[in-house]
Amino acid sequence: MNVAIIGTGYVGLTTGVCLAYIGHSVTCLDTDADKVAALKAGKIPIYEPHLENLISEASERIRFTTSYADAIPNAHVVFIAVGTPPTPSGNPNLEYLSQAATCIGKYLNDDFTVVVNKSTVPIGSGNWVGSIIRDSLEARHGKKVNGLFAVASNPEFLREGAAIGDSLYPDRIVIGSDETRALEVLYTLYRPILDQTFQAPTYLPRPEDKGAVPLVSTDLASAELIKYAANAFLALKISFINEIGQVAERVGAEITEVARGIGLDSRIGSRFLNAGLGWGGSCFGKDTAALVATGREYGLTMPIVEAARMVNQRQRERILEKLLQEVKILKGKTISLLGLAFKPNTDDLRDAPAIDIARHLIERGARVRCHDPIAMDRFKREYGSLEVQLCDNADQLFEDCDAAILVTEWTEYRELDWSKLGRLMRTPILLDGRLVLDRGELSKQGFRYVGISG
Ligand code: UDX
Repeated sequence: MNVAIIGTGYVGLTTGVCLAYIGHSVTCLDTDADKVAALKAGKIPIYEPHLENLISEASERIRFTTSYADAIPNAHVVFIAVGTPPTPSGNPNLEYLSQAATCIGKYLNDDFTVVVNKSTVPIGSGNWVGSIIRDSLEARHGKKVNGLFAVASNPEFLREGAAIGDSLYPDRIVIGSDETRALEVLYTLYRPILDQTFQAPTYLPRPEDKGAVPLVSTDLASAELIKYAANAFLALKISFINEIGQVAERVGAEITEVARGIGLDSRIGSRFLNAGLGWGGSCFGKDTAALVATGREYGLTMPIVEAARMVNQRQRERILEKLLQEVKILKGKTISLLGLAFKPNTDDLRDAPAIDIARHLIERGARVRCHDPIAMDRFKREYGSLEVQLCDNADQLFEDCDAAILVTEWTEYRELDWSKLGRLMRTPILLDGRLVLDRGELSKQGFRYVGISG
Protein backbone atom coordinates (compact mmCIF):
# COMPACT_ATOMS: atom_id res chain seq x y z
CA MET A 1 0.00 0.00 0.00
CA ASN A 2 1.00 3.63 -0.39
CA VAL A 3 1.25 5.25 2.99
CA ALA A 4 1.82 8.89 3.93
CA ILE A 5 2.93 9.83 7.42
CA ILE A 6 2.58 13.43 8.59
CA GLY A 7 5.12 14.25 11.29
CA THR A 8 8.54 12.63 11.73
CA GLY A 9 8.77 12.60 15.52
CA TYR A 10 9.18 9.37 17.50
CA VAL A 11 5.80 8.02 16.55
CA GLY A 12 5.72 9.10 12.91
CA LEU A 13 9.23 8.04 12.08
CA THR A 14 9.01 4.68 13.81
CA THR A 15 5.63 3.91 12.24
CA GLY A 16 6.85 4.94 8.79
CA VAL A 17 10.04 2.94 8.97
CA CYS A 18 8.31 -0.19 10.29
CA LEU A 19 5.59 -0.02 7.63
CA ALA A 20 8.25 0.38 4.93
CA TYR A 21 10.18 -2.53 6.42
CA ILE A 22 7.18 -4.87 6.18
CA GLY A 23 6.70 -3.95 2.52
CA HIS A 24 4.62 -0.81 2.14
CA SER A 25 5.67 2.24 0.18
CA VAL A 26 5.97 5.10 2.63
CA THR A 27 6.29 8.87 2.25
CA CYS A 28 7.14 10.69 5.46
CA LEU A 29 6.25 14.36 5.51
CA ASP A 30 7.44 17.03 7.87
CA THR A 31 7.03 20.79 7.53
CA ASP A 32 10.49 21.27 9.09
CA ALA A 33 12.68 21.51 5.97
CA ASP A 34 15.93 21.07 7.92
CA LYS A 35 14.69 17.86 9.47
CA VAL A 36 13.61 16.50 6.09
CA ALA A 37 16.95 17.45 4.51
CA ALA A 38 18.75 15.66 7.35
CA LEU A 39 16.58 12.55 6.97
CA LYS A 40 17.20 12.53 3.22
CA ALA A 41 20.91 12.61 3.98
CA GLY A 42 20.49 9.59 6.25
CA LYS A 43 20.70 11.51 9.53
CA ILE A 44 18.24 10.39 12.18
CA PRO A 45 17.02 13.25 14.38
CA ILE A 46 16.32 11.08 17.43
CA TYR A 47 18.20 8.47 19.38
CA GLU A 48 16.32 5.22 19.04
CA PRO A 49 18.04 1.82 18.98
CA HIS A 50 17.78 -0.05 15.62
CA LEU A 51 16.03 2.82 13.82
CA GLU A 52 19.04 3.57 11.66
CA ASN A 53 19.48 -0.08 10.63
CA LEU A 54 15.84 -0.43 9.77
CA ILE A 55 15.79 2.77 7.69
CA SER A 56 18.75 1.62 5.67
CA GLU A 57 17.16 -1.81 5.09
CA ALA A 58 13.88 -0.22 3.99
CA SER A 59 15.49 2.66 2.09
CA GLU A 60 13.97 1.67 -1.25
CA ARG A 61 10.47 1.97 0.13
CA ILE A 62 10.74 5.10 2.25
CA ARG A 63 11.19 8.70 1.22
CA PHE A 64 10.97 12.08 2.90
CA THR A 65 9.29 15.27 1.76
CA THR A 66 7.98 18.63 2.94
CA SER A 67 5.23 18.70 0.32
CA TYR A 68 1.62 17.67 0.89
CA ALA A 69 1.08 17.74 -2.89
CA ASP A 70 3.77 15.07 -3.09
CA ALA A 71 2.68 12.88 -0.16
CA ILE A 72 -1.12 12.86 -0.11
CA PRO A 73 -2.72 12.26 -3.55
CA ASN A 74 -1.50 8.67 -4.05
CA ALA A 75 -1.76 7.54 -0.47
CA HIS A 76 -4.21 4.78 0.47
CA VAL A 77 -3.61 5.55 4.11
CA VAL A 78 -2.51 8.85 5.67
CA PHE A 79 -1.26 8.77 9.26
CA ILE A 80 -1.31 11.97 11.27
CA ALA A 81 1.50 11.76 13.79
CA VAL A 82 2.10 15.41 14.61
CA GLY A 83 2.90 16.74 18.07
CA THR A 84 0.06 17.51 20.47
CA PRO A 85 1.99 19.28 23.25
CA PRO A 86 0.26 19.95 26.56
CA THR A 87 -1.24 23.34 27.43
CA PRO A 88 -1.61 24.72 30.97
CA SER A 89 -5.29 23.59 31.09
CA GLY A 90 -4.26 19.96 30.62
CA ASN A 91 -5.82 19.85 27.15
CA PRO A 92 -3.34 19.17 24.35
CA ASN A 93 -2.59 21.84 21.78
CA LEU A 94 -4.30 20.71 18.57
CA GLU A 95 -2.95 23.41 16.28
CA TYR A 96 -0.64 21.08 14.33
CA LEU A 97 -3.35 18.48 14.02
CA SER A 98 -5.76 21.02 12.58
CA GLN A 99 -3.13 22.29 10.10
CA ALA A 100 -2.38 18.74 8.97
CA ALA A 101 -6.10 17.97 8.48
CA THR A 102 -6.62 21.11 6.40
CA CYS A 103 -3.65 20.28 4.17
CA ILE A 104 -4.78 16.67 3.74
CA GLY A 105 -8.19 17.92 2.55
CA LYS A 106 -6.47 20.10 -0.04
CA TYR A 107 -4.72 17.19 -1.71
CA LEU A 108 -6.89 14.07 -1.37
CA ASN A 109 -7.56 12.56 -4.79
CA ASP A 110 -10.71 10.74 -5.91
CA ASP A 111 -9.68 7.33 -4.55
CA PHE A 112 -10.84 6.32 -1.09
CA THR A 113 -8.26 7.26 1.57
CA VAL A 114 -8.16 6.35 5.22
CA VAL A 115 -6.92 9.17 7.44
CA VAL A 116 -5.58 7.79 10.69
CA ASN A 117 -5.02 9.67 13.92
CA LYS A 118 -1.85 8.29 15.39
CA SER A 119 -1.13 11.27 17.60
CA THR A 120 -2.60 11.01 21.07
CA VAL A 121 -5.64 13.21 20.74
CA PRO A 122 -8.59 14.00 23.00
CA ILE A 123 -11.57 11.75 22.69
CA GLY A 124 -13.75 13.03 19.87
CA SER A 125 -10.82 14.32 17.81
CA GLY A 126 -11.43 11.78 15.07
CA ASN A 127 -14.75 13.42 14.29
CA TRP A 128 -13.19 16.84 14.56
CA VAL A 129 -10.38 15.95 12.13
CA GLY A 130 -13.03 14.53 9.78
CA SER A 131 -14.94 17.80 9.78
CA ILE A 132 -11.80 19.86 9.05
CA ILE A 133 -10.85 17.61 6.13
CA ARG A 134 -14.43 17.80 4.82
CA ASP A 135 -14.41 21.63 5.00
CA SER A 136 -11.10 21.76 3.22
CA LEU A 137 -12.27 19.32 0.51
CA GLU A 138 -15.47 21.29 -0.01
CA ALA A 139 -13.62 24.59 -0.26
CA ARG A 140 -11.53 23.02 -3.01
CA HIS A 141 -14.38 21.42 -4.94
CA GLY A 142 -16.89 24.19 -4.29
CA LYS A 143 -19.51 21.59 -3.30
CA LYS A 144 -20.20 18.72 -0.89
CA VAL A 145 -18.04 15.64 -1.58
CA ASN A 146 -18.89 12.33 0.02
CA GLY A 147 -17.10 9.03 0.42
CA LEU A 148 -13.56 10.13 -0.47
CA PHE A 149 -12.11 9.45 2.93
CA ALA A 150 -12.83 7.99 6.36
CA VAL A 151 -11.18 8.78 9.65
CA ALA A 152 -9.75 6.10 11.93
CA SER A 153 -7.85 6.00 15.18
CA ASN A 154 -4.85 3.74 15.62
CA PRO A 155 -3.24 4.51 18.95
CA GLU A 156 0.41 3.66 19.40
CA PHE A 157 1.77 2.00 22.49
CA LEU A 158 5.47 2.16 21.70
CA ARG A 159 8.01 2.95 24.36
CA GLU A 160 10.93 5.18 23.50
CA GLY A 161 14.11 3.16 23.51
CA ALA A 162 12.14 0.03 22.56
CA ALA A 163 10.06 1.61 19.81
CA ILE A 164 11.03 -0.72 16.95
CA GLY A 165 10.46 -3.92 18.92
CA ASP A 166 7.16 -2.56 20.25
CA SER A 167 6.03 -1.76 16.69
CA LEU A 168 7.10 -5.00 15.03
CA TYR A 169 6.12 -7.30 17.91
CA PRO A 170 3.27 -5.48 19.64
CA ASP A 171 1.06 -6.95 22.38
CA ARG A 172 -1.96 -5.88 20.33
CA ILE A 173 -3.02 -3.54 17.56
CA VAL A 174 -6.00 -1.28 18.14
CA ILE A 175 -7.91 0.23 15.24
CA GLY A 176 -11.11 2.21 15.55
CA SER A 177 -13.43 3.70 12.98
CA ASP A 178 -17.12 4.18 12.45
CA GLU A 179 -16.67 3.00 8.84
CA THR A 180 -16.10 -0.67 8.10
CA ARG A 181 -14.21 0.16 4.91
CA ALA A 182 -11.55 1.99 6.90
CA LEU A 183 -11.13 -0.92 9.31
CA GLU A 184 -10.67 -3.31 6.38
CA VAL A 185 -7.93 -1.14 4.88
CA LEU A 186 -6.08 -0.98 8.19
CA TYR A 187 -6.44 -4.72 8.70
CA THR A 188 -4.76 -5.29 5.32
CA LEU A 189 -2.06 -2.75 6.13
CA TYR A 190 -1.16 -4.45 9.39
CA ARG A 191 -1.62 -8.04 8.23
CA PRO A 192 2.14 -8.86 8.11
CA ILE A 193 2.47 -7.74 11.72
CA LEU A 194 -0.79 -9.33 12.88
CA ASP A 195 0.22 -12.68 11.35
CA GLN A 196 3.94 -12.11 12.05
CA THR A 197 4.77 -13.14 8.47
CA PHE A 198 7.51 -10.54 7.80
CA GLN A 199 11.13 -11.55 8.02
CA ALA A 200 12.46 -10.47 11.41
CA PRO A 201 15.55 -8.22 11.38
CA THR A 202 18.67 -10.14 12.41
CA TYR A 203 19.51 -7.53 15.07
CA LEU A 204 16.00 -7.67 16.55
CA PRO A 205 14.82 -11.28 16.34
CA ARG A 206 11.20 -12.22 16.86
CA PRO A 207 10.62 -13.21 20.51
CA GLU A 208 10.40 -17.00 20.67
CA ASP A 209 6.94 -17.10 22.16
CA LYS A 210 5.52 -14.49 19.77
CA GLY A 211 2.33 -15.76 18.17
CA ALA A 212 -0.27 -13.92 16.10
CA VAL A 213 -0.91 -10.39 17.36
CA PRO A 214 -4.46 -9.78 18.69
CA LEU A 215 -6.42 -7.12 16.82
CA VAL A 216 -8.91 -4.90 18.61
CA SER A 217 -11.11 -3.53 15.86
CA THR A 218 -13.61 -1.13 17.34
CA ASP A 219 -15.38 2.21 17.01
CA LEU A 220 -13.57 5.54 16.92
CA ALA A 221 -14.33 6.74 20.46
CA SER A 222 -13.38 3.40 22.04
CA ALA A 223 -10.01 3.35 20.26
CA GLU A 224 -9.32 6.90 21.41
CA LEU A 225 -10.22 6.07 25.00
CA ILE A 226 -8.14 2.85 24.96
CA LYS A 227 -5.01 4.93 24.49
CA TYR A 228 -5.73 7.17 27.47
CA ALA A 229 -6.90 4.35 29.68
CA ALA A 230 -3.78 2.28 28.91
CA ASN A 231 -1.36 5.09 29.69
CA ALA A 232 -3.27 6.16 32.80
CA PHE A 233 -3.28 2.59 34.10
CA LEU A 234 0.48 2.19 33.61
CA ALA A 235 1.05 5.57 35.26
CA LEU A 236 -1.03 4.65 38.27
CA LYS A 237 0.72 1.31 38.61
CA ILE A 238 3.98 3.25 39.01
CA SER A 239 2.44 5.69 41.48
CA PHE A 240 0.86 2.84 43.42
CA ILE A 241 4.20 1.16 44.03
CA ASN A 242 5.73 4.51 44.94
CA GLU A 243 2.97 5.11 47.47
CA ILE A 244 3.52 1.66 48.95
CA GLY A 245 7.23 2.56 48.97
CA GLN A 246 6.55 5.25 51.56
CA VAL A 247 4.92 2.73 53.86
CA ALA A 248 7.72 0.25 53.21
CA GLU A 249 10.24 2.81 54.31
CA ARG A 250 8.39 3.50 57.56
CA VAL A 251 7.87 -0.13 58.52
CA GLY A 252 11.34 -1.24 57.45
CA ALA A 253 10.25 -3.30 54.43
CA GLU A 254 12.12 -3.46 51.10
CA ILE A 255 9.91 -2.05 48.36
CA THR A 256 11.70 -4.06 45.65
CA GLU A 257 10.83 -7.26 47.55
CA VAL A 258 7.24 -6.12 47.97
CA ALA A 259 7.00 -5.34 44.24
CA ARG A 260 8.36 -8.77 43.38
CA GLY A 261 6.00 -10.43 45.77
CA ILE A 262 2.91 -8.79 44.35
CA GLY A 263 4.05 -8.74 40.71
CA LEU A 264 4.30 -12.52 40.53
CA ASP A 265 0.53 -12.63 40.91
CA SER A 266 -0.41 -12.84 37.24
CA ARG A 267 -3.48 -10.71 37.89
CA ILE A 268 -1.16 -7.88 38.90
CA GLY A 269 1.89 -8.52 36.70
CA SER A 270 5.45 -7.52 37.50
CA ARG A 271 5.98 -4.80 34.90
CA PHE A 272 5.71 -1.10 35.76
CA LEU A 273 6.18 -1.80 39.43
CA ASN A 274 9.66 -0.33 39.70
CA ALA A 275 9.58 2.16 42.53
CA GLY A 276 11.69 5.28 42.18
CA LEU A 277 11.54 8.84 40.99
CA GLY A 278 8.39 8.09 39.04
CA TRP A 279 7.47 8.66 35.48
CA GLY A 280 8.61 11.38 33.11
CA GLY A 281 8.54 11.57 29.32
CA SER A 282 6.11 12.92 26.81
CA CYS A 283 3.16 10.64 27.46
CA PHE A 284 2.17 9.80 30.99
CA GLY A 285 2.09 13.35 32.34
CA LYS A 286 0.36 14.73 29.29
CA ASP A 287 -2.15 11.92 28.87
CA THR A 288 -3.18 11.74 32.52
CA ALA A 289 -3.69 15.54 32.48
CA ALA A 290 -5.76 15.27 29.31
CA LEU A 291 -7.87 12.47 30.76
CA VAL A 292 -8.63 14.53 33.85
CA ALA A 293 -9.47 17.50 31.58
CA THR A 294 -11.81 15.35 29.48
CA GLY A 295 -13.54 14.09 32.63
CA ARG A 296 -13.98 17.68 33.77
CA GLU A 297 -15.66 18.59 30.47
CA TYR A 298 -18.27 15.95 31.26
CA GLY A 299 -18.63 17.01 34.89
CA LEU A 300 -16.63 14.01 36.12
CA THR A 301 -13.83 13.96 38.66
CA MET A 302 -11.09 11.37 38.23
CA PRO A 303 -9.68 10.97 41.73
CA ILE A 304 -7.57 7.88 40.97
CA VAL A 305 -5.79 9.49 38.03
CA GLU A 306 -5.36 12.76 39.91
CA ALA A 307 -3.85 10.95 42.87
CA ALA A 308 -1.41 9.14 40.58
CA ARG A 309 -0.26 12.51 39.26
CA MET A 310 0.15 13.91 42.76
CA VAL A 311 2.17 10.93 43.97
CA ASN A 312 4.41 11.23 40.93
CA GLN A 313 5.16 14.87 41.64
CA ARG A 314 5.80 14.04 45.29
CA GLN A 315 8.53 11.54 44.38
CA ARG A 316 10.63 14.34 42.90
CA GLU A 317 10.20 16.33 46.10
CA ARG A 318 10.99 13.32 48.29
CA ILE A 319 14.45 12.87 46.84
CA LEU A 320 15.22 16.51 47.56
CA GLU A 321 13.96 16.19 51.12
CA LYS A 322 16.18 13.17 51.59
CA LEU A 323 19.15 15.02 50.17
CA LEU A 324 18.54 17.90 52.52
CA GLN A 325 18.39 15.54 55.49
CA GLU A 326 21.84 14.28 54.51
CA VAL A 327 23.69 17.46 53.56
CA LYS A 328 21.68 19.83 55.82
CA ILE A 329 22.68 22.92 53.85
CA LEU A 330 22.52 23.11 50.09
CA LYS A 331 24.03 26.54 49.55
CA GLY A 332 27.51 26.21 48.13
CA LYS A 333 27.35 22.40 48.02
CA THR A 334 28.10 20.48 44.83
CA ILE A 335 25.49 17.91 43.91
CA SER A 336 26.02 15.50 41.01
CA LEU A 337 23.24 13.95 38.99
CA LEU A 338 23.73 10.63 37.24
CA GLY A 339 21.43 10.74 34.23
CA LEU A 340 19.43 13.46 32.50
CA ALA A 341 17.11 11.58 30.11
CA PHE A 342 13.67 10.72 31.50
CA LYS A 343 14.60 7.03 31.26
CA PRO A 344 17.51 4.98 29.88
CA ASN A 345 18.06 4.31 26.16
CA THR A 346 16.69 7.64 25.01
CA ASP A 347 17.94 11.22 24.84
CA ASP A 348 14.45 12.58 25.47
CA LEU A 349 14.34 15.22 28.18
CA ARG A 350 10.64 15.96 28.19
CA ASP A 351 9.32 16.06 31.75
CA ALA A 352 12.59 14.48 32.89
CA PRO A 353 12.90 14.38 36.70
CA ALA A 354 16.56 15.45 36.34
CA ILE A 355 15.54 18.85 34.97
CA ASP A 356 13.15 19.52 37.86
CA ILE A 357 15.72 18.36 40.39
CA ALA A 358 18.53 20.42 38.85
CA ARG A 359 16.34 23.55 38.76
CA HIS A 360 15.35 23.11 42.35
CA LEU A 361 18.93 22.59 43.51
CA ILE A 362 20.13 25.68 41.66
CA GLU A 363 17.33 27.74 43.23
CA ARG A 364 18.49 26.55 46.64
CA GLY A 365 22.05 27.72 45.94
CA ALA A 366 23.69 24.39 45.14
CA ARG A 367 26.13 23.81 42.30
CA VAL A 368 24.90 21.10 40.00
CA ARG A 369 26.91 18.71 37.88
CA CYS A 370 25.33 16.26 35.46
CA HIS A 371 26.25 13.35 33.27
CA ASP A 372 24.26 11.37 30.76
CA PRO A 373 25.65 8.86 28.25
CA ILE A 374 23.44 10.11 25.41
CA ALA A 375 21.35 13.14 26.35
CA MET A 376 24.02 15.80 27.04
CA ASP A 377 24.03 17.21 23.49
CA ARG A 378 20.31 17.53 23.55
CA PHE A 379 20.49 19.09 27.00
CA LYS A 380 22.89 21.76 25.67
CA ARG A 381 20.46 22.55 22.85
CA GLU A 382 17.28 22.58 24.90
CA TYR A 383 18.39 23.69 28.37
CA GLY A 384 21.54 25.69 27.58
CA SER A 385 20.47 28.43 29.99
CA LEU A 386 20.27 26.09 32.98
CA GLU A 387 23.44 26.61 35.00
CA VAL A 388 24.78 23.11 35.38
CA GLN A 389 28.20 21.73 34.66
CA LEU A 390 28.09 18.84 32.19
CA CYS A 391 30.72 16.19 32.87
CA ASP A 392 32.12 13.81 30.28
CA ASN A 393 32.97 11.07 32.74
CA ALA A 394 32.31 9.78 36.21
CA ASP A 395 35.62 11.03 37.66
CA GLN A 396 34.78 14.61 36.73
CA LEU A 397 31.26 14.19 38.03
CA PHE A 398 32.26 12.87 41.44
CA GLU A 399 35.42 14.82 42.18
CA ASP A 400 34.91 16.89 45.33
CA CYS A 401 31.15 16.63 45.21
CA ASP A 402 29.07 16.57 48.38
CA ALA A 403 26.42 14.10 47.26
CA ALA A 404 25.32 12.29 44.11
CA ILE A 405 21.83 11.32 42.99
CA LEU A 406 21.17 8.49 40.56
CA VAL A 407 18.29 9.87 38.50
CA THR A 408 18.26 7.68 35.37
CA GLU A 409 19.12 4.00 35.65
CA TRP A 410 21.49 3.66 32.67
CA THR A 411 23.07 0.19 32.78
CA GLU A 412 26.58 1.62 32.81
CA TYR A 413 25.91 3.37 36.14
CA ARG A 414 25.51 -0.01 37.80
CA GLU A 415 29.03 -0.94 36.77
CA LEU A 416 30.92 2.15 37.92
CA ASP A 417 34.09 1.82 39.97
CA TRP A 418 32.37 2.90 43.16
CA SER A 419 35.28 2.45 45.51
CA LYS A 420 37.37 4.88 43.45
CA LEU A 421 34.47 7.33 43.02
CA GLY A 422 33.72 7.33 46.74
CA ARG A 423 37.28 8.39 47.44
CA LEU A 424 36.98 11.27 44.97
CA MET A 425 33.92 12.71 46.71
CA ARG A 426 34.08 15.23 49.52
CA THR A 427 31.42 13.23 51.36
CA PRO A 428 30.43 9.86 49.89
CA ILE A 429 26.65 10.28 50.00
CA LEU A 430 24.70 8.50 47.30
CA LEU A 431 20.97 8.80 46.78
CA ASP A 432 19.53 6.07 44.60
CA GLY A 433 16.49 7.50 42.84
CA ARG A 434 15.75 4.25 40.99
CA LEU A 435 16.69 1.61 43.56
CA VAL A 436 19.03 -0.18 41.19
CA LEU A 437 22.31 -0.01 43.09
CA ASP A 438 23.55 -2.54 45.63
CA ARG A 439 23.08 -1.01 49.06
CA GLY A 440 25.24 -3.62 50.82
CA GLU A 441 28.12 -3.31 48.38
CA LEU A 442 28.08 0.49 48.43
CA SER A 443 27.98 0.58 52.20
CA LYS A 444 31.01 -1.72 52.20
CA GLN A 445 32.78 0.78 49.93
CA GLY A 446 32.18 3.46 52.54
CA PHE A 447 29.16 5.14 51.01
CA ARG A 448 26.21 6.50 52.91
CA TYR A 449 23.54 4.92 50.68
CA VAL A 450 20.03 6.40 50.73
CA GLY A 451 17.30 4.84 48.58
CA ILE A 452 14.29 6.88 47.54
CA SER A 453 12.17 4.45 49.56
CA GLY A 454 14.32 3.57 52.54
C1 UDX B 1 4.93 5.28 27.46
C2 UDX B 1 4.07 4.02 27.27
O1 UDX B 1 4.75 2.88 27.82
C3 UDX B 1 3.75 3.79 25.82
O2 UDX B 1 2.87 2.69 25.70
C4 UDX B 1 3.08 5.05 25.28
O3 UDX B 1 2.76 4.90 23.95
C5 UDX B 1 3.98 6.26 25.48
O4 UDX B 1 4.28 6.38 26.87
P1 UDX B 1 7.50 5.91 27.25
O5 UDX B 1 7.10 7.25 27.78
O6 UDX B 1 8.41 5.83 26.08
O7 UDX B 1 6.20 5.06 26.86
O8 UDX B 1 8.25 5.15 28.44
P2 UDX B 1 7.98 3.98 29.46
O9 UDX B 1 8.99 2.94 29.26
O10 UDX B 1 6.57 3.56 29.46
O11 UDX B 1 8.31 4.73 30.82
C6 UDX B 1 7.62 5.90 31.21
C7 UDX B 1 8.18 6.44 32.50
O12 UDX B 1 7.81 5.64 33.60
C8 UDX B 1 9.70 6.55 32.54
O13 UDX B 1 10.04 7.79 33.12
C9 UDX B 1 10.13 5.42 33.45
O14 UDX B 1 11.31 5.71 34.12
C10 UDX B 1 8.94 5.34 34.39
N1 UDX B 1 8.76 4.01 34.98
C11 UDX B 1 8.43 2.95 34.19
C12 UDX B 1 8.86 3.83 36.35
O15 UDX B 1 9.13 4.80 37.09
N2 UDX B 1 8.65 2.59 36.89
C13 UDX B 1 8.32 1.53 36.11
O16 UDX B 1 8.14 0.44 36.67
C14 UDX B 1 8.22 1.70 34.72
